[in-house]
Amino acid sequence: MQREEERFVATHPKSKTLFERACQSLLGGVPMNWMAKWAGAFPVFVADARGAHFTDVDGHEYVDLCLGDTGAMTGHSPRPAVQAIAEQAAQGITFMLPTENAIWVGEELKRRFGLPYWQFCLTATDANRFSIRLAREVTQRKLVLVFNYCYHGTVDESFITLKDGGPAPRRGNIGPPVDPALTTRVVEFNDVDALEKALASREVACVLCEPALTNVGIVHPEPGYHDALRRLTRQYGSLLIVDETHTICAGPGGFTREHNLDPDFFVLGKPLASGLPAATYGFTQEVGERVLQRVKVEDCDTGGIGGTLAGNALSLAAMRATLEHVLTPAAFRHMIPLAEQFTSGVEAAIREFGVPWHVTRLGCRAEYLFTDQRPRNGAQAAAAMDFELERFMHLYALNRGVLLTPFHNMALMSPATTSSDVDQHTRIFREAVSELVR
Ligand SMILES: Cc1ncc(COP(=O)(O)O)c(C=O)c1O
Repeated sequence: MQREEERFVATHPKSKTLFERACQSLLGGVPMNWMAKWAGAFPVFVADARGAHFTDVDGHEYVDLCLGDTGAMTGHSPRPAVQAIAEQAAQGITFMLPTENAIWVGEELKRRFGLPYWQFCLTATDANRFSIRLAREVTQRKLVLVFNYCYHGTVDESFITLKDGGPAPRRGNIGPPVDPALTTRVVEFNDVDALEKALASREVACVLCEPALTNVGIVHPEPGYHDALRRLTRQYGSLLIVDETHTICAGPGGFTREHNLDPDFFVLGKPLASGLPAATYGFTQEVGERVLQRVKVEDCDTGGIGGTLAGNALSLAAMRATLEHVLTPAAFRHMIPLAEQFTSGVEAAIREFGVPWHVTRLGCRAEYLFTDQRPRNGAQAAAAMDFELERFMHLYALNRGVLLTPFHNMALMSPATTSSDVDQHTRIFREAVSELVR
């Protein structure tokens, strides 16, 4: 690790100089606190990016498997989105009035994901927050249910974990407005009995879930789990919010369409506008009607749902171009086999060196975990995390021209990623593991 850290510093003098300057005006030298989490003494500063590659200020080129933690799953700056953004930017960016693109996007979301009504905001966090508010309003219930070790953005209600069998604030929860145990029930993913117990008192307004956990490695639902989740939420009158911000990697219609889910709300952000801030939440006819009945026009601007720039013309132009030309079925037909190639390359090295790890895939996303047992819930997956080992793997890859996400060991394929990009990772991964076991 020391050798890798020294190599990183020695080969990134310009990033180092910029970081030192950044420390004078940015807290911790980074524009956003989580950028401090990159392996290495400082983050690399980006010079430019295109497709699946970027170049840093020191002139190193990287294969980008992080892709803005899904924000750039489209590849960086895909041409149709850049063109639509440039055209719209020259014709007005935000109006507080709709453009026709909003209708095109609404119609496409309805066709793709099956829900009839859609609204827009700027981040997936907000899409989740607004969906929770609507669910509370229409059910007239207070509680939210989430799964242990979920992540849904900076949604206050979701920063809760199970500790010694009971709810506790998630480690690192900064200045929580209230104890999350007052707002939230938390259960393990894939545990139908616990789910039923938590819903049975009929106090839960909504279950907020990823259809497969993706933020603590990848944890797949067990056969029949989603049927049980839908049956129990209906039985006890709770609404079901499916957050597909990451699981859109499963296919053009997300996990929902791949597996015939039937949620009350559908949330999508991050890559929806090729990385421009944009997110959406869709809901059923019944939810839509109940919302319209309850919300008065006079109060609709101060109801706790909104944002001045939400639904702006620029992000809607980018969403249209992304849905029409970038995140297409053909793109997924290219991306998913690359994730399969990634998985088999990593698997081969794990087997060759006999390390007790495994690799999982969901659509065009793959991730390796430091345990040979496939976790069935968040607690098991979290127990397999090894921060020091993660940092070593990330830095080893970074020093050899491959960027993984700074959080766990995720790799994502874009429409611009190539088979040789994946091979480059496989070679480096094999070399890293061979050094570890030597
Ligand atoms: C499943 C899921 N939902 C929502 C979010 C929040 O997205 P954003 O930070 O863009 O608001 C994330 C972020 O990682 C996520 O993984």
